[in-house]
Amino acid sequence: MATPISISPSFLRVFFGCFVFFICVILCSPEKGFASAEGDTKTDLLPHTHTVEVNSLQPATTCILSTQGPYNNKESVLEVVHKHGLCNQHKSQSNPTDQDRTQILKQDETRVSSIHYRLNSLTLPDAATNTIPVQYGLELGSFSYIVTVGLGTPAKNLSLLIDTGSDLTWTQCRPCVRSCYKQKEPMFDPSHSTSYSNISCESAACSQLTVAGIDRDCSAATCTYSAKYLDNSSSLGFFGNDKLTLTPTDAYDDFDFGCAQNSKGKFGAAAGLLGLGRTSISFVEQTSQKYKRVFSYCLPSTSSSTGYLKFGPDGGSGNAVKFTPLKTLSQSATFYALDLVGITVGSRQLKISASVFSKSGTVIDSGTVITRLPATPYAALRAAFRKAMEKYPFAKSKSALLDTCYDFSGLKTVSYPKIGFVFGGGVTVDLDATGILFQTSGSQFCLAFAGNKDDNSVGIIGNVQQKRLQVVYDVAGGRIGFGPAGCP
Ligand SMILES: *[C@@H]1O[C@H](CO)[C@@H](O)[C@H](O)[C@H]1NC(C)=O
Ligand SMILES: *[C@@H]1O[C@H](CO)[C@@H](O)[C@H](O)[C@H]1NC(C)=O
Ligand SMILES: *[C@@H]1O[C@H](CO)[C@@H](O)[C@H](O)[C@H]1NC(C)=O
Repeated sequence: MATPISISPSFLRVFFGCFVFFICVILCSPEKGFASAEGDTKTDLLPHTHTVEVNSLQPATTCILSTQGPYNNKESVLEVVHKHGLCNQHKSQSNPTDQDRTQILKQDETRVSSIHYRLNSLTLPDAATNTIPVQYGLELGSFSYIVTVGLGTPAKNLSLLIDTGSDLTWTQCRPCVRSCYKQKEPMFDPSHSTSYSNISCESAACSQLTVAGIDRDCSAATCTYSAKYLDNSSSLGFFGNDKLTLTPTDAYDDFDFGCAQNSKGKFGAAAGLLGLGRTSISFVEQTSQKYKRVFSYCLPSTSSSTGYLKFGPDGGSGNAVKFTPLKTLSQSATFYALDLVGITVGSRQLKISASVFSKSGTVIDSGTVITRLPATPYAALRAAFRKAMEKYPFAKSKSALLDTCYDFSGLKTVSYPKIGFVFGGGVTVDLDATGILFQTSGSQFCLAFAGNKDDNSVGIIGNVQQKRLQVVYDVAGGRIGFGPAGCP
């Protein structure tokens, strides 16, 4: 979160000195650099640089609630919290440790290999090569954000990971047959819900599972699903139907979901996941009559603040939200693809042909942490960023994934170039100040982007880069929108 800062006069002198040097040597457009003042916060001393307190890039010691609901009608607004963190009342109630951060990045690599595998463009990491067949390659432990919903009658509150890369919503159910990792956590018991029913094998919904890439078993009359993940995680159980309560005043009566009898894997502090993908069994499609295939969210800046997830088309923050066309990848009907054509660093767009991006394609994913770019654009971004950051001590990365890291110890304030995504149709979306760096440990912060091995694998816009943005999925309108500063 970019919060107001206090800056000493000596810092200003040093800062301006560095910035003038930066402008002249790297950007070569001082007039342009100083002319406009389009910064979205008062903290920007100069329009193409973020200047923030180091503290604002780290979680606080209390949970800061989002007061900034985007709409007047709050009926279907859910609170979004980070899985690891103070605001997650179901789990640790403490901020992520260095160990958690290492784990988050490791799991992120698994998720991305899985997405690349699923989209047919990459070889598997060695460890996973034996686990074929993989119908559905996503690693659950890496999902970062959760919402709490009620399931059944009376409603049982469950925390679900939000996932735009999955279609099936599922939750761990009682009786848990095997591998009952969640036994101490809230668990849904269908026998205690007066509105639960099993879905039969004859129903159309059961056959839709295979469209979403999930195996079904119809050897009995009841439709049984089995989702396997690349790291040997799995979820297996009955495909059922019940009432889903989003908020005290808003429920959906007829929701199909997976009632897991047997789940294995690192699912974290959640009972299951909320599938926000695009095929017919996803929440978005099942509720299309009610919410018109529109949803939006804001992911909070740190694990000590909250964001929102909102269903339905009403409202939106007017012209602050800029839209770009929603695309579909031929390899997968689940993911939301975008027409990324360029990247800006500071005041300049990197010199990369748009065809490099169109060759790989780009998806936006709520569950991937670090944005992945094709190799060529990543190399250009890294070079420009390193150049602009020469005044800071370069640090040996504590992560195999991130390679551009700095030691900010002893610094109260830091400044770094703004970064933006350029989409087809000439829409440029500036990332929030909190959407550029990832804290790997203590005072070490790294550029939160990574390169794919080549230019062929799909690019992925991850959740660090989405922080604080209002992201509007207008599936009905065939577009995705981005607006600034939607939550703390
Ligand atoms: C479930 O969550 C809702 C909304 O957060 C809350 O009002 C309600 O008290 C919770 N119910 C239970 C049984 O915890
Ligand atoms: C759902 O199907 C399973 C397996 O056939 C059965 O044990 C369970 O009682 C059924 N639940 C309901 C509510 O029919
Ligand atoms: C998955 O499980 C199989 C069989 O139990 C095992 O051989 C394999 O090493 C496991 N893979 C991973 C990535 O743990």
